[in-house]
Amino acid sequence: MSPMSATVYIPRDSSALSMGAGAVADAISAEAKRRNADVRIVRNGSRGLYWLEPLVEVETPKGRVAYGPVSASDVASLFDANFLAGENHRLALGITEDIPYLKSQERLTFARVGITDPVSLDDYVAHGGYRGLQRALAMTGAQVVEEVTVSGLRGRGGAGFPAGIKWKTTLGLEAKQKYVVCNADEGDSGTFSDRMIMEGDPFVLIEGMTIAAVAVGATQGYIYLRSEYPHALRALNEAIATADARGYLGANLLDSGKAFKLEVRVGAGAYICGEETAMLESLEGKRGMVRYKPPVPAIVGLFGMPTIINNVITLASVPIVVEKGGNFYKDYGMGRSRGTLPIQLAGNAKRPGLIEKAFGVTLREIIYEYGGGTASGRPVRAVQVGGPLGAYFPDSMLDLPMDYEAIAAKGGLVGHGGIVVFDDTVDLAQMARYAMEFCAIESCGKCTPCRIGSTRGVEVIDRIIRNEDRAANAELLRDLCDTMQSGSLCALGGLTPLPVRSALTHFPGDFGLATS
Ligand SMILES: Cc1cc2nc3c(=O)[nH]c(=O)nc-3n(C[C@H](O)[C@H](O)[C@H](O)COP(=O)(O)O)c2cc1C
Ligand code: SF4
Repeated sequence: MSPMSATVYIPRDSSALSMGAGAVADAISAEAKRRNADVRIVRNGSRGLYWLEPLVEVETPKGRVAYGPVSASDVASLFDANFLAGENHRLALGITEDIPYLKSQERLTFARVGITDPVSLDDYVAHGGYRGLQRALAMTGAQVVEEVTVSGLRGRGGAGFPAGIKWKTTLGLEAKQKYVVCNADEGDSGTFSDRMIMEGDPFVLIEGMTIAAVAVGATQGYIYLRSEYPHALRALNEAIATADARGYLGANLLDSGKAFKLEVRVGAGAYICGEETAMLESLEGKRGMVRYKPPVPAIVGLFGMPTIINNVITLASVPIVVEKGGNFYKDYGMGRSRGTLPIQLAGNAKRPGLIEKAFGVTLREIIYEYGGGTASGRPVRAVQVGGPLGAYFPDSMLDLPMDYEAIAAKGGLVGHGGIVVFDDTVDLAQMARYAMEFCAIESCGKCTPCRIGSTRGVEVIDRIIRNEDRAANAELLRDLCDTMQSGSLCALGGLTPLPVRSALTHFPGDFGLATS
């Protein structure tokens, strides 16, 4: 017997949709009609257990029960098994919150993703949303900035710069206009946490940006969104319109007399437009070219005005920091890496997904305990941490903790928290070549070490692979890496040496060089 009325959750997240979540939702809706079952379907965000998508959940008195991966052809048998009451089925996974992958996480920024209806403001508020903004509106700007500073929150877009210091700079300036810009370009390979937040809990980003605006005295905000994210665009625009209509955005925020207007701008698909100054150029309607710094955007930013630029995850972490206080957030993490990091596990992983953990979790825990090793079943040979500009680490180095300083000390970077897994069929000489090629393709062209160096880098690696004067060319490649690192204007040219050097150092055999 089916219960009188059941609530079924089916993600509207792009990855779930790519696995057929739309067809599953249609099939459940049609089957419910056919059987006269009263079913309310909520299109939630993804829980981030991507190997189980489409993951369908049913609300039951003992909690939500999960089934996955579900295809449209499973739907009739789910109804036969009475899944609407949480009964057993071959795809049943038990209580969602008890799935070990989820249970052992520390979800602060992702607290609501997969749980609420992303575009329902009432749902957001019912799950603790907007408490941070309420608190911020009762504080001075300096007090809000102090909470963010105390929390130790560092930029999650790549550079790990302390958010509080950036905000303090803008707060201290007098200007006729200040801006808050959210960097939602998410160009790094293997990363998707920004997208998950924007699709799965857009209000948390809107709230974070509003708090930033209230804190520093900005009245206009922009979300610079990559063009490849149409579902995020829809969710953001819907959420912004609702927040506007209900007084959470606009000329008089919650009757405080403070104003903040927010709009989304869609990029045109260039990796360099994720670099903050190129992003500003693009937002101003120009070609995405990197600007010289100083002045930093916090002082001279969009249209020459003081501008806070933060990544999606940085801003989406602000509501909980302000709601619970900086000390609450700071209690998570290690060393100077405070709070949690939404880690994105991708590539050849058996269980890819989103894992939010306090800094300090090791690469080995992520790759084996969460990821279950490789999808191919072959040994893990290398992992690339931190996107296309991050280092390749061998299996022997996986006890490294996710910590800005620890990873940097080994020649890598945490970046946006993406980890891409490779098995023993990977050729690291080819990956190094690809790093140089990527830089050559994506270079904005403003400075010589990057524009010319990356093309020469591809040629030198080709000569090494072809065994032309191998030792001398390897030395030349190292020299070229030094030049690119020290002479490039921005981190595209400056950090491309990281994957190249790490491949040379940890996998010399792939280049035909002697292993020590
Ligand atoms: C080539 C390049 C690409 C970048 N792409 C992104 C991006 O896609 N998203 C992002 O948030 N930051 C990106 N950054 C970092 C930004 O320049 C900037 O540091 C960041 O948006 C600041 O926000 P945060 O302090 O919150 O991290 C990129 C930097 C470089 C050099
Ligand atoms: S390093 Fe490359 S991307 Fe950055 S400014 Fe120079 S040419 Fe442009």
